[in-house]
Amino acid sequence: MNIALIGSGGREHVLCQKIYESKLSKNIVCIPGNAGTAKVAKNIDLNFLDFRKLLKTLKLHKIDLVIVGPEEPLVKGIVDFLNKNKIKVFGPNKYAARLEGSKAFMKSICKKYKIPTAEFKTCKNKKDVINFLKKTKFPLVVKADGLAAGKGVTICKTKKEVLNVSNEIFQGKFKTSKKLVLEEFLDGEEASYFLIVDKKSYKFFGSAQDHKRVGENEKGPNTGGMGAYSPAPIINKNLERKIISKIVRPTLQALKNKKKPYTGFLYVGLMIINNEPYLIEYNVRMGDPECQVILPRLNTDIVKIFNAAISQKLNKIKIEWKKLKCMTIVLCSKGYPGEIKKNKLIKNIDKLKLNENSFIFHAGTKLINNELVSNGGRVLNITSTGKIYRKIRINIFKIIKRVNWKHGFFRKDIGWRVIKKIYANN
Ligand code: AMP
Ligand code: GLY
Repeated sequence: MNIALIGSGGREHVLCQKIYESKLSKNIVCIPGNAGTAKVAKNIDLNFLDFRKLLKTLKLHKIDLVIVGPEEPLVKGIVDFLNKNKIKVFGPNKYAARLEGSKAFMKSICKKYKIPTAEFKTCKNKKDVINFLKKTKFPLVVKADGLAAGKGVTICKTKKEVLNVSNEIFQGKFKTSKKLVLEEFLDGEEASYFLIVDKKSYKFFGSAQDHKRVGENEKGPNTGGMGAYSPAPIINKNLERKIISKIVRPTLQALKNKKKPYTGFLYVGLMIINNEPYLIEYNVRMGDPECQVILPRLNTDIVKIFNAAISQKLNKIKIEWKKLKCMTIVLCSKGYPGEIKKNKLIKNIDKLKLNENSFIFHAGTKLINNELVSNGGRVLNITSTGKIYRKIRINIFKIIKRVNWKHGFFRKDIGWRVIKKIYANN
């Protein structure tokens, strides 16, 4: 099969690598891709949000299947558009993608189907916010309704802060958000649970824990994710049953009731409090960097899985996982998530000899005159598998030392929860 993959991050590099390793793939194009995907696919530099141009390119390359990495094209309706033009594509339709594209939509489903989530109020204007503030506790979470590239959530400690953040949202700070959601602050442990879904069934697709803050000890501003590990030990069988029965099933049924069934990856962002799951957010795609720690553990041909999902036969296949743990640490450009400098040379990657348990997935990288340079905030995902998280992390540190990229930084405490808690046997 000829396969096109949309996106350019670490998530897309690992997806591309897995598609490349499949017996079922022939030609792979990555739109636009990065220097990592260029090794296993043909990168095509194109604005994938220009759906008409994209369609032309897909036809030119005789693409049989499109895999969409990031959320924006999904929320803008790429699946509906390509289906209408008879191109097979893996991902949710535009209506279902609102699970991520609109916090108010997601919360309204939670309310209707009694899905456990933080208490909330959707506000359309300042008056709504002021009314809610009369009877609220702090901290309070303010969320822009639409996509905000990970920057739309603020945890506020005072009324003044809530009003300032709300004003900014109403004044158009995030173009896609005319509304906002005010939410009760949930104090617990965050974990992510993944599924692959077709119109008839769904299958577990891994668990992970991410580290969203830029600084060690969970300090500083939010980022796209500074590192992750899989599996997440907090997600035990008992909790998993609750996640499925209280959160996933009612959500999938809600979309079926609207005649817009969900298909694609579903990322269930959770807060776990006293062994009870609360839905924090849905993402309608794999996580980044969570994908980089889940896919190295996958033992089943990924294209076979995509084909099964596209033809509503997920219930007919078995998805197998390696009995290994995986961790990734993100090497970022100095300054991230603020201002960064691009085009900084990364010298040592090609000379590095990695063992079969270690991988470097590229994120913000590109080639200029055959030389590898940085091209974004999150640059490389240094990834390793093994049996004990503590040892995996030591291995990753050694690789980062060998990469020796002077323009970058990384968090040294990725995995602190699992390494501290179950130090002896994890
Ligand atoms: P979201 O974009 O909804 O995932 O929010 C980004 C991050 O903000 C989450 O990963 C949490 O760390 C934090 N967060 C969001 N909602 C809440 C909440 N209700 N209580 C506590 N933390 C939250
Ligand atoms: N790492 C968080 C996300 O992909 O949304």
